[in-house]
Amino acid sequence: MKKVTVVGAGNVGATAAQRIAEKELADVVLIDIVDGVPQGKALDLNEAAPIEKHDAFLIGTNVYEETKDSEIVIITAGIPRKPGMSRDDLISTNAGIMKSVTEQIVKQSPDAVLIIVSNPLDAMCHVAFDASGFPKNRVIGMAGVLDSARFRAFIAMELGVSVENTHAFVLGGHGDTMVPLPRYSTVAGIPITELLSKERIDALVKRTRNGGAEIVSLLKTGSAYYAPASAAVEMAEAILKDKKKILPCAAYLEGEYNISGLFIGVPVKLGKNGIEEIIEITLTEEEQKALNHSADAVKELVKILKTLK
Ligand code: NAI
Ligand code: 2OP
Repeated sequence: MKKVTVVGAGNVGATAAQRIAEKELADVVLIDIVDGVPQGKALDLNEAAPIEKHDAFLIGTNVYEETKDSEIVIITAGIPRKPGMSRDDLISTNAGIMKSVTEQIVKQSPDAVLIIVSNPLDAMCHVAFDASGFPKNRVIGMAGVLDSARFRAFIAMELGVSVENTHAFVLGGHGDTMVPLPRYSTVAGIPITELLSKERIDALVKRTRNGGAEIVSLLKTGSAYYAPASAAVEMAEAILKDKKKILPCAAYLEGEYNISGLFIGVPVKLGKNGIEEIIEITLTEEEQKALNHSADAVKELVKILKTLK
């Protein structure tokens, strides 16, 4: 069986570990700084295995030697936001955590593909990229799959159709400036611009942009984790199975979309090498402007990162 490490045994990490095991994608090492929690959750999940009918094995640990030779490492370590906090408020705490985790991970798994989840997502990709020294194809941020899944769910609810019929692209940074693209969002291949009024589309776009905050305001003690875990695992599955799946992910751009030296969400092809291609779709002037605006917001965070060093 292949081996996937999940760093951070909190809500997103433990749920991702569960989904990976239940889909029998790989054995899972769940690692956290808190003693007992990853061990307890891994044992609990192993005890569910006879009922869930999978032979994936989970190890819970606090030591990085156990993560050795992982094919994929999903990093969820950090603090989540509370009501009233933006993702950006997490930057200084999570940057320190991301740097230390990445350094320890790459010593054990120099060939792994890193899937970054901790927030603020695009900035954390920069930290992991710098700390790992990995090539850009092996450092990928999870945000677009989640934001697109939210948009898809809202489209399905609005039109009363199966979620399976919906496709959507949300590009840009994982923040208030994210860029849902209605023109490229479809139901059974039909663009939603042909199915819904501008007012309704605007409302769904707004709800998508606010999707993370909507859950935070309901949960009150943390942020979303079921859909985020599903999104990270969809990316891991595409890589483990070399599916060449096109998904919106945070990728390091070097001139694509006229953006350089920045992690931001764009459509990519995921296969065994991680990001195998950055797909450049044509954008209208307005869409490109929105993407540039989002890139500017990410650049501001990257500037803050530099002041933390
Ligand atoms: P959580 O608080 O439930 O879990 C975080 C875990 O990280 C805790 O178990 C904590 O002990 C652990 N941790 C802290 N420092 C560590 C270290 N140095 N080494 C190893 N583990 C460490 O939080 P949750 O809900 O799982 O969220 C995790 C992160 O993912 C947050 O930053 C959150 O904002 C982010 N997130 C990002 C999403 C995205 O779309 N990119 C979606 C959902 C969450
Ligand atoms: C979300 O969008 C908190 O980034 C996380 O739910």
